Amino acid sequence: MNPILASGLLATAALLGGSAGAAEPPLKIGLIGPFSGSSYESGGAAFDQGIKAFLKIHGDTVAGRKVEIIRRDVPEPMPELAKRVATELVVRDKVDFLTGVIFTPNALAAGQVSGATRTPFVIMNAATSGIMAKIPNAVRVSFTMAQVTAPLGDWAAKNGSKRAFTIVADYAPGIDAENAFTRSFTEGGGQVVEKLRVPLSNVEFSPYVRRIRDAKADAVYLFLPNGDTAKSFLKAFKDGGLVDAKVKILADGGITAPNNLPIVGDNAIGMISSHHYTETHASPVNERFVKAFAEVNSGALPTYISAGAYDAMAAIYKAVQEQGGKPTLDRTMEILGNLKMESPRGPIQLDARSRDITQNVYIRRVERRGGQLVNVEFETIPAVKP
Ligand code: PHB
Repeated sequence: MNPILASGLLATAALLGGSAGAAEPPLKIGLIGPFSGSSYESGGAAFDQGIKAFLKIHGDTVAGRKVEIIRRDVPEPMPELAKRVATELVVRDKVDFLTGVIFTPNALAAGQVSGATRTPFVIMNAATSGIMAKIPNAVRVSFTMAQVTAPLGDWAAKNGSKRAFTIVADYAPGIDAENAFTRSFTEGGGQVVEKLRVPLSNVEFSPYVRRIRDAKADAVYLFLPNGDTAKSFLKAFKDGGLVDAKVKILADGGITAPNNLPIVGDNAIGMISSHHYTETHASPVNERFVKAFAEVNSGALPTYISAGAYDAMAAIYKAVQEQGGKPTLDRTMEILGNLKMESPRGPIQLDARSRDITQNVYIRRVERRGGQLVNVEFETIPAVKP
């Protein structure tokens, strides 16, 4: 064939994506999260960082399909916006998977779309117990509040705390955390002297810190999901003299995530928390993750949000790989529902009926290691059900 004609044909075929051995269509993944506002740094940015580390280790192509991440911003719990962006991702962008979502109300809203459009949905974070029953075609690779909180109430009661004050964000996961902590702490012989529910953002904590002092609490259990709110609590706690009074902070692990620790500085040393992912978890899978994470994220340490993003990507890759790059909803749900893998956090396992996660929960202490403040595990509660 005339070489000019031949190259013209090749160029046309490439344009149409139809040349022999052409690449498969991209695998489109719709990622919903806070990509602006006060939850950006601890939320959307942490998703991006975890995905970058995953792609660095596992590559950007699965079963011949190049992965394309399409990000959509839902800055706060805003269910109507979450529903709208999920719909656009499925209908206009034609994503193969939905994923992401920091906040429970947004997961429930996006879940209506995954249900109605038969789109598989892998939840990277939203952690309220019981929501999976309301979200068809979804699996959760993160955690539940009850799962990570009950072990901390147990631990506190066994380790000398008698009078606890609880502060939680006033929405579904906060209420879950308050209930789980209260139940296990009380069963262990402790007393919850006051329970406070605060707005999700813009909280001025100094009046609350006074109330903690007045209540003569010896420990405070704390769950605040928003990075900035957690930071402002930690500052008020220190400024209000509670560090000096040796009131123990029993934190949800999100509060002591490595991005928050520099705020409190050395006052954070000794803080106890419980969670499912620890940046210093000693395992080859985590060491590889932490190393790749630092390489692509300017030396940063991963948080649980980034670990959730990594595992969601691992779950999606497994489902697509096992179906030779041509996933169907039913088979995807079968594979994801029975997912069992070694994650950076330790062994994880999903259950096909609940589509929720069973995993270890760790009790950790903040320490300074090699110039950095980090969480260090000292007790493991194995295979905790969601
Ligand atoms: C939630 O809204 O479900 C949520 C957000 C942040 C967390 C935990 C739970 O750290």
